[in-house]
Amino acid sequence: MTQIKACCESIARSGFGTLQISDAMLQDYKKIVDGYSAISQATKESFSFALDTDGFFPFGAEYSGIEDQPDLCERFCYWPVHASKRMAFDFTRSTFFAAVDSFERQISELAKELMDGVCGEFGVSPLAPFRSASYVQLCVYGAQTTGCVRRFAQDPHEDGHMLSFIKPTREGLVLVKGSSLEPVRLLEGEIAVLAGSLLTELSDHAIPAAYHAVLAPLKPVARSSLIYFANPNPEQLLTSFYRRQSIDLNSTVNARHTGFGNQPIHSL
Ligand SMILES: [Fe+2]
Repeated sequence: MTQIKACCESIARSGFGTLQISDAMLQDYKKIVDGYSAISQATKESFSFALDTDGFFPFGAEYSGIEDQPDLCERFCYWPVHASKRMAFDFTRSTFFAAVDSFERQISELAKELMDGVCGEFGVSPLAPFRSASYVQLCVYGAQTTGCVRRFAQDPHEDGHMLSFIKPTREGLVLVKGSSLEPVRLLEGEIAVLAGSLLTELSDHAIPAAYHAVLAPLKPVARSSLIYFANPNPEQLLTSFYRRQSIDLNSTVNARHTGFGNQPIHSL
């Protein structure tokens, strides 16, 4: 069995799986997580496009449960669909940006392949390409965010997308299963794949959304997490996997997206 097939089966069964990424992706990943600290505050402030949920966002701009209990991280978001509007910025010529762009190109292909496989598990046709509705997000939890009384650096939640691909630099990510917390452990070349509630709806509730959280570290330590959020193509008329009924997820996509404190997605 290929590793993609095994991951698709695992997601269809439990809403969670792991995948091996290529060496090229791993190199890009390292450039991204290692390169963030060299980006100036001025660049972060100028390259920030809140209406598109694109670019840099300061510490605490997003939340996962309670609005006044923000995620204890800074963020950088990258949407390929907005990239052409950013070409005038020098930052788009940086090594960091090139690595994000390269990582996105590869993971979008992996996501398509994986989603095709999940559809295959249910005997339905592959979805229309969804790269333009999907994006990369880097979360940077600085060491200064530790020592607080919070149990979680990111409260329990599900991401509200179809699939989330998550690769953290260190421990902290846990799956929330009722009252128990299961640490997600990955090898160096592995990435976690979590189903979101859009996939739950699309699968007529066959696939559970993977609820998860980030534990606040006991000692001050920097931690980053690179994520790819896959959303469905807003122009596709979707059909649910079991009941084969048409399903409109566009308003749900926006409800989930704004539920984290983000602006609505314009194209929807
Ligand atoms: Fe999440």
